[in-house]
Amino acid sequence: MNRILENEVLAEKINRYVIEAPKIAQRRKAGQFVIIRIDERGERIPLTIADADPEQGTITLIVQAVGKTTTQMTLLKPGDYLLDVVGPLGAPTHIERFGTAVVVGGGIGIAPAHPIAQALKAAGNTVITILGARSKNLLILEEEMRRTSDEVIVCTDDGSYGMKGLVTHALADLIARRGKPDFVFAVGPVPMMKYVSLLTKEHGIPTMVSLNPIMIDGTGMCGGCRVTVGGEMRFACVDGPDFDGHQVDFDELMKRQAFYKEQERIAFERMLERCRAEGLLQADPS
Ligand SMILES: Cc1cc2nc3c(=O)[nH]c(=O)nc-3n(C[C@H](O)[C@H](O)[C@H](O)COP(=O)(O)OP(=O)(O)OC[C@H]3O[C@@H](n4cnc5c(N)ncnc54)[C@H](O)[C@@H]3O)c2cc1C
Ligand code: FES
Repeated sequence: MNRILENEVLAEKINRYVIEAPKIAQRRKAGQFVIIRIDERGERIPLTIADADPEQGTITLIVQAVGKTTTQMTLLKPGDYLLDVVGPLGAPTHIERFGTAVVVGGGIGIAPAHPIAQALKAAGNTVITILGARSKNLLILEEEMRRTSDEVIVCTDDGSYGMKGLVTHALADLIARRGKPDFVFAVGPVPMMKYVSLLTKEHGIPTMVSLNPIMIDGTGMCGGCRVTVGGEMRFACVDGPDFDGHQVDFDELMKRQAFYKEQERIAFERMLERCRAEGLLQADPS
C-alpha cells in the first residue's frame, strides 16, 4: 500500500500526486514509469515518474483524467492509499552530451518530458524545450521547464498563449532560425510524435520518442505493449518506452491503442454510475 500525500489540480483534468514510495524514489531514472492499482478490483495502469524526492521517499505522478482509473484517482485524498505501485519499470532514457538537444512535450507528455529535460541539462546539453497544448488552460509545468531549459517555446492550438500552431511548426521554425539541433526527444500524443519524427527524418536529426501503448504486466510477459520498430516486434515495457522515432510504426500503435475503446467506455460509464450513487461526484467529468 502506498499513501497519497498530495493531490493537486494542475490544469483542467490534470492532477499532480505525491505518493510515498521510498525504494522507487531512490532508484528511478529519467524515462522510467510505475504501474499502479487503486484497489483490488482496479486495472493496472502505467504512469511516468515525473519527479522523485529520495530524501522524503516520495514520487510525483502527473495524470490526465481520460477514463475510468485516471478519473477515479482524482477522487483520492491525501491520506488515502493506492493498493500497489510497482516500479521503477522500463529502460531509463539514454542521456549523453549531444550538444543542442530539443525536448518536445505535447499535452500530458510535458510531464514525462520534464525529467528528461532535467537529465539532458545535467549532462551539459543546451536544452531547448517546445511545449504544446490545445489551449492555455491545459498547459502544465511551464515554470519548471523554464528553470531547466536554455530556451522555452510555447505553442497552443488555439493561439490563447504563446505562438499559435503545433509543436511541429515551432520545431520547423527553430531549425530555420538556429540550424539543426544535435538531438530531439519527443513525448506526447502519438500523431504528434509521428509528425515530429517525419520532420526530423527529413533533416537527418536523431530522434527518440517515448511510446505509450496499452500495458498490463509491465514485465515483458503479456505482449500487450508490443510495438513495431524497424520492422521488428519490441515490448515497450522492457525494451522501451523510448525508441528511435524514425523506426517506429506509429499507425499500428494508434490502431492498437484504440483496440479496447468500447470496453473502456462501458467501464467509465459504470464507474460514473457507482460514484454518483455514492455521492462522490457532483459535476459530470465526462
Ligand atoms: C509508459 C507509459 C507512461 C505513461 N505515463 C503517463 C503519465 O505520466 N500521465 C498520464 O496521464 N498518462 C500516462 N500514460 C497513459 C495512461 O497509462 C493512460 O491514460 C491510462 O492507462 C488510462 O486509463 P483509464 O482507465 O483512465 O482510461 P481508459 O478509458 O481505460 O483508457 C483511455 C485510453 O488510455 C490508454 N490506456 C488504457 N489502459 C491503458 C493501459 N493499461 N496502459 C496504457 N495505456 C492505456 C488507451 O489508449 C485508452 O484508449 C502512460 C502510458 C504509458 C504506456
Ligand atoms: S505490458 Fe506486458 S509485455 Fe509489456
